Amino acid sequence: MNGAVTGGVAPEGAEVVLEVRNLSAEYAASRGAVRAVENVSFTLHRGEALALIGESGSGKTTLSLALIRMLVRSAKVTKGSVRYLRNGESLDVLALSERELRRFRWSECAMVFQGAQNAFNPVLRVREQFLDTAYAHGKRDRAWVKKRTLELFRLVRLDPERVYNSYPHELSGGMKQRALLALGVLLDPQVVILDEPTTALDILTQRAIIDVLSEMRSRLGFSILFISHDLALAAEMADRVATMYAGEIVETGTVDNLFYEPLHPYTLGLLRSVPRLSGSQDLVSIPGSPPDLISPPSGCKFHPRCPFATGRCEQDAPPLEDFGGGHLAACWHTERVVEARAGLWDAPAVSPTQTDAQADAQSSIRGVRE
Ligand SMILES: Nc1ncnc2c1ncn2[C@@H]1O[C@H](COP(=O)(O)OP(=O)(O)OP(=O)(O)O)[C@@H](O)[C@H]1O
Ligand code: SF4
Ligand SMILES: [Mg+2]
Repeated sequence: MNGAVTGGVAPEGAEVVLEVRNLSAEYAASRGAVRAVENVSFTLHRGEALALIGESGSGKTTLSLALIRMLVRSAKVTKGSVRYLRNGESLDVLALSERELRRFRWSECAMVFQGAQNAFNPVLRVREQFLDTAYAHGKRDRAWVKKRTLELFRLVRLDPERVYNSYPHELSGGMKQRALLALGVLLDPQVVILDEPTTALDILTQRAIIDVLSEMRSRLGFSILFISHDLALAAEMADRVATMYAGEIVETGTVDNLFYEPLHPYTLGLLRSVPRLSGSQDLVSIPGSPPDLISPPSGCKFHPRCPFATGRCEQDAPPLEDFGGGHLAACWHTERVVEARAGLWDAPAVSPTQTDAQADAQSSIRGVRE
């Protein structure tokens, strides 16, 4: 479905740090190939945060693992390119040797995995895990590692000495997640991929993690690929958003583009399924369930669930088209979405357990537009 180029609004003068073109990846399963990522293209700029949103099974984790070549053995990249750029040099990530990959993975591009709070080895103190990680990537100066770790712990608002000398079980979920963020940026990567970094944390802790992340980003200047189910967090965290459906990016643009002027029925459906503060709008869930990625629907993969689908949608896959200012969508009938989205933001969106602070953040997003 997706065209060759996914645009985006480059922050003024910002250089490109990651360029993904027409990337496809699949898993070998007994029934056939699971086409988990199909023809995905996007660009990430220095210091930018791009949020990837979509239902469970839409391919977000597979895409991010493909970017750092950490797919399981049964999976492979079948097409496309991943280029990482630094100081005018360009690395072809899919062509790196194992040795080059080891350096790339933590020093250039780090990933905080989905459900990673249990990633710490329970029998090793936190300090040993930081030292091991640094050592494995060629940093053998223990004094440097300690100094850097304590600085990072301060930045993520942890008590540095206490946490450094703790065992993982002595830390709460939120503390472990902060320690993982610190571990992610230990070797000063240019790109950090965060796969559902706040899932399984209570709402106040989520809030604190998002604050910490924003501060880290502004202090350290890395770029973020932020994967989330939570639209409010994505809106708050990101500069740009990409909606993923059945392995494809179906819409991408600025936060304002996607949240206030969605052009794809699936993005609209996601927004409509978020509760409102006033409770004034009925929640509308997206009918049906995500397709089988071994034999996805013909034409537009969303057509069996789409309220605007026509015969054309069943036959032909729509290309990802630029609607101006880097707002791209893959849909034959965007004009129907424009009509249907009227009134979408009459009341602010809020998750059922959202704090006042998050509601304020939502209001401020609305304020930017109004
Ligand atoms: N090891 C695997 N073997 C076969 N299929 C897999 C495997 N891992 C994932 N898949 C399939 O690939 C597709 C994409 O999965 P992926 O985990 O990337 O989605 P996701 O968007 O990250 O979902 P979630 O939001 O639940 O984390 C799904 O259809 C999933 O069933
Ligand atoms: S209107 Fe057609 S092309 Fe657009 S999302 Fe629905 S099914 Fe796909
Ligand atoms: Mg996932």
